[in-house]
Amino acid sequence: MLSVQRREFDEKKKDETPYPRDFARWYALDYFRRPRSLRSRRFYVTLATTIAFLLLSLATLAPALHKTHQAAPVSRAHAMLNQDCASCHDQMFQPVLRLFGCGQASVSDKRCNECHHGAPHHGKEPACASCHAEHRGYDVLATHVADRNCVECHGHQGGYVHPMDTKGPFPITHFNRDHPAFLPSVKGAADPAKIKFNHKAHLDLDLDDLRIANKKAGRDDLKGLGSKMACADCHQIDDERKYVKPIVYENHCARCHALNIGLVGDFTPELREAVVSFSKTPLPHREPAVVRAVLRDRLAEFAQRNAVVAAKGAPRVPRPLPWKPVTDEQWSWAKVQAQKTEELLFMNKQWQKHESLTQCAHCHIEKERPAGVPIYHKTEIPSRWYTHSVFNHGSHRTMSCTACHDKNAAGIKVADSQTAADILMPTLQSCQECHKGSGGARNACVECHRYHAR
Ligand code: HEC
Ligand code: HEC
Ligand code: HEC
Ligand code: HEC
Ligand code: HEC
Ligand code: HEC
Ligand code: HEC
Ligand code: HEC
Ligand code: HEC
Ligand code: HEC
Repeated sequence: MLSVQRREFDEKKKDETPYPRDFARWYALDYFRRPRSLRSRRFYVTLATTIAFLLLSLATLAPALHKTHQAAPVSRAHAMLNQDCASCHDQMFQPVLRLFGCGQASVSDKRCNECHHGAPHHGKEPACASCHAEHRGYDVLATHVADRNCVECHGHQGGYVHPMDTKGPFPITHFNRDHPAFLPSVKGAADPAKIKFNHKAHLDLDLDDLRIANKKAGRDDLKGLGSKMACADCHQIDDERKYVKPIVYENHCARCHALNIGLVGDFTPELREAVVSFSKTPLPHREPAVVRAVLRDRLAEFAQRNAVVAAKGAPRVPRPLPWKPVTDEQWSWAKVQAQKTEELLFMNKQWQKHESLTQCAHCHIEKERPAGVPIYHKTEIPSRWYTHSVFNHGSHRTMSCTACHDKNAAGIKVADSQTAADILMPTLQSCQECHKGSGGARNACVECHRYHAR
């Protein structure tokens, strides 16, 4: 009720009933024409609100409040840049263009390259940010690269041609659908190793028998081995637990295939001990020319120390041991002995069962023999097979070695392999059994491939 009405009402109240007779008079029918307080201030309220918001928005541009514009923080490795947007964003934000699915991120490769060397994979690189999307709160940025970023190039016919592949370009769109067989180990691929080896012969060995035989010969070389050889006796996983350490003769073969040589000829009983001790000291595992030199030195020394031959006269020519007076007679004895031993040591023939295990050619393949000393092929046992991808033995340690290595393209079980030429590397199908995405191990390209280092 308006004040005018109330006054009118109060006056009438004195001589009339307490209730107004005419309710219609209570209402001000022109109320909409009268000024109202809120409307009169609307303009100022709007203005104030706008200014407040503008100020607030401007305030977020202050470094400390930059974060307000992010959907999520940048990845952990970049956390120190979280406030410093300009370290990555060197162009205008393009929210509208991005809303419609076009328009690049406002981040140029130049900025990334200021801190990184993203080594090129191929001449035509997509933008860094297309693979390394930020503001997803990722812990690890590098491995969050979706397959579509790879399939973009590798997915079409002619997208990728492997130099070894004769069937022409093959598209790869998905690991479990159209990934090519692992070329380094497909049927027909060659094992680059130039060494003789026989997995079966070693895995079949009865080491307890061998121990007894060794004991009789006064040797005790099989410490730490069980009653059968295990893979780990020759193949140890490296310190990163990824790949297998290379075979090293000294660590893996020497205990059974020591390079000992005996002396040839008759020796007096007094010399027997010296002869045995000589044959027990192995030769160094070095180039044949070095082995020859060491052998001759040792023989000359033996002749001298044990007076094998009479020491007539003083040496005339410099000897391998110029500081020791080796006589002509001692030297020629040593040379004859060396020749006989070398005949055995450097003999080039296929090993027969129950022959001595010490000749070089027992394991090595001869290339040529200039001047009577053999030259062997470099052994070149590959330390990596699948060099265009990464692998981790540690992540698969719950599996037995043969669970993978028996499933090779040649179809040969490791324990049946009799030649180093067999390729015992697992096939694509053996990985696909587990690596199949949902419900299995991951199958993203980046699980097994690197992009930059290739
Ligand atoms: C380590 C580099 C890096 C830093 C630091 C960074 N960003 Fe980004 N930002 C990116 C990348 C990369 C993208 C593209 C992501 C995508 O395409 O999904 C992006 C996308 C964006 C977008 C989407 C729209 C557009 O135009 O790109 C906005 C908005 C944005 N960032 C804001 C910010 C703000 C604000 C900061 C600072 C508080 C910041 N970013 C800090 C790398 C960064
Ligand atoms: C101011 C320097 C700087 C800039 C700019 C920068 N980074 Fe980094 N980035 C780093 C540092 C520091 C690390 C962590 C140390 C490392 O691993 O090298 C890192 C790590 C990474 C990693 C690996 C870390 C992980 O979690 O996997 C990737 C991938 C990466 N940056 C990509 C990018 C991309 C793409 C851009 C451009 C949008 C970019 N960076 C811009 C400094 C920078
Ligand atoms: C086609 C996708 C793609 C593009 C484009 C790309 N990367 Fe990567 N990046 C990857 C993948 C996959 C990895 C993880 C595997 C690796 O290390 O190669 C990675 C890893 C990295 C790492 C971490 C390497 C490490 O050793 O930890 C850095 C840093 C990086 N990228 C920077 C860049 C920069 C800078 C650019 C732009 C010049 C770029 N990337 C472009 C896919 C890509
Ligand atoms: C811009 C196109 C392009 C993109 C994107 C691309 N690749 Fe490639 N990739 C190539 C080309 C071209 C080759 C052959 C390069 C050569 O032989 O010099 C190649 C080679 C390869 C090879 C085998 C040869 C080698 O040298 O290692 C692998 C594995 C590979 N890419 C994986 C990937 C993965 C994983 C991704 C996604 C993170 C990817 N590529 C993204 C174009 C691309
Ligand atoms: C007495 C030592 C010895 C034992 C025991 C042994 N290996 Fe080997 N292995 C070698 C040597 C030497 C080579 C390199 C020559 C070759 O390629 O055969 C090799 C090569 C390999 C290779 C890769 C090379 C190729 O040509 O495919 C695989 C895989 C392998 N072994 C698996 C095994 C497994 C699995 C076991 C256990 C069941 C095992 N090895 C037991 C000595 C051994
Ligand atoms: C535990 C002792 C032992 C170790 C360790 C050992 N071998 Fe043997 N190796 C033998 C015995 C015993 C034979 C004879 C096998 C037979 O009679 O069938 C043999 C045989 C061989 C043969 C001939 C096999 C054939 O039938 O063609 C080669 C080659 C060979 N070893 C190489 C190596 C190499 C290389 C290493 C190191 C990686 C090695 N061995 C480690 C005990 C061993
Ligand atoms: C029981 C087998 C075996 C016998 C016997 C053997 N080697 Fe080897 N040799 C190896 C293996 C395995 C390697 C590769 C691993 C290494 O370097 O230790 C090798 C490597 C070498 C190398 C290094 C270069 C290369 O090709 O990798 C030389 C040199 C060599 N042997 C010389 C000899 C000579 C000379 C003899 C005879 C006096 C001999 N070896 C006897 C197994 C043998
Ligand atoms: C999940 C399957 C898998 C299992 C299980 C496995 N390997 Fe492998 N192995 C591989 C693959 C894949 C490679 C090729 C690695 C590379 O070079 O990229 C390899 C390589 C090798 C090589 C050749 C040298 C090298 O590093 O490339 C040897 C030797 C080997 N493995 C021995 C073993 C032994 C011994 C065990 C048991 C302790 C074992 N592997 C278990 C898959 C497996
Ligand atoms: C018995 C199942 C099984 C088989 C077979 C198998 N994997 Fe895996 N693999 C796994 C599991 C489980 C992981 C760890 C979890 C994950 O990455 O999803 C893994 C992880 C990996 C990783 C990532 C390792 C890391 O820690 O970065 C690579 C690379 C890989 N496997 C390659 C292979 C290859 C190549 C083969 C075939 C020779 C293979 N795997 C066979 C189960 C398997
Ligand atoms: C489980 C592991 C694994 C996954 C997942 C995987 N690859 Fe492979 N890829 C390999 C192995 C192992 C090779 C054998 C060749 C080598 O590494 O040398 C190979 C070979 C290739 C080659 C031929 C390289 C050459 O030069 O021989 C290309 C290209 C390739 N992969 C692309 C891809 C792409 C694209 C994806 C994703 C769609 C993918 N791979 C997923 C393990 C994998």
